[in-house]
Amino acid sequence: MISERVVAKSAGSASAPEKATPASPIGVFDSGVGGLTVLAQMMKQLPHEDVIYLADTARVPYGGRSAEEIVKINQEIIPYLLKQGVKLIIMACGTSSAIAYPVLKDDYPVHMINLIEPGSREAVAASRSGRIGLIATAATVNSHAYQKKIKELAGDIEVHAVGCPLFVPLIEGGFIETEETRRVAKDYLKPLLKEKIDTLILGCTHYPHLSKVLQELAGPEVRLIDPAEAAVADAKAMLTKAGTLRTKAVPAKYKYFVTGSPIQFQDIGSRLLGKPIVGTKQVTLI
Ligand code: DGL
Repeated sequence: MISERVVAKSAGSASAPEKATPASPIGVFDSGVGGLTVLAQMMKQLPHEDVIYLADTARVPYGGRSAEEIVKINQEIIPYLLKQGVKLIIMACGTSSAIAYPVLKDDYPVHMINLIEPGSREAVAASRSGRIGLIATAATVNSHAYQKKIKELAGDIEVHAVGCPLFVPLIEGGFIETEETRRVAKDYLKPLLKEKIDTLILGCTHYPHLSKVLQELAGPEVRLIDPAEAAVADAKAMLTKAGTLRTKAVPAKYKYFVTGSPIQFQDIGSRLLGKPIVGTKQVTLI
């Protein structure tokens, strides 16, 4: 149970909450507005849960950084969220899930949900031809986290991966259904469509913001997989098992923190989430 783990391990190096309860918030983080695609799923599947959302916008994008840098960034963010008393952390970032999760998963007194396993599971279940495409950050593609997990789940499946470094800057800049974005997306998808994929994993949480453009370009036969849906379902199952799911029908509270500019995050974030993001505070992690 989460609460037991928290109590049992709270004497460790990270300052942990005394006790996780159903009223404790869930911590969610990403480099920027990408994690809002996970938050949107949480709003659907976990409507009564309070959320602390951290966007590390001072360091976006993560995708071109080294594995060491990505692990170090996660080692700053996770203790910060623990100090806020979170009962669960959702790594709403494909790059952190691929690189930092395997290294850090047992280092903190809190359960952490990553996106790789749920995304791979969904893609394997969806593919009929056994030809899966993956688009993600360069760091995620090069980590081979998805490729390995999919092989584990179904040895005979082919995974064709393309790193898409221009997507995150375009999305953070608010270029969603523009000609520039469409042109860039067409180039990235070309080699995958040539391989006749029937399933496409959106392996970076920013990319579901481009779902409309990607679906148009890929065509109706290609099924887009947003790992967030299954990851949030896993989070719900984990909370239920731990007895810390908030079942009381109260409206959830969302608190937003950024390491960069609050205004920029609120402007683009509200547009992408389709709901107003207000009261965002700028914080320093260490
Ligand atoms: N949205 C994150 C991911 O899922 C981070 C992307 C980035 O900052 O490059 O990988």
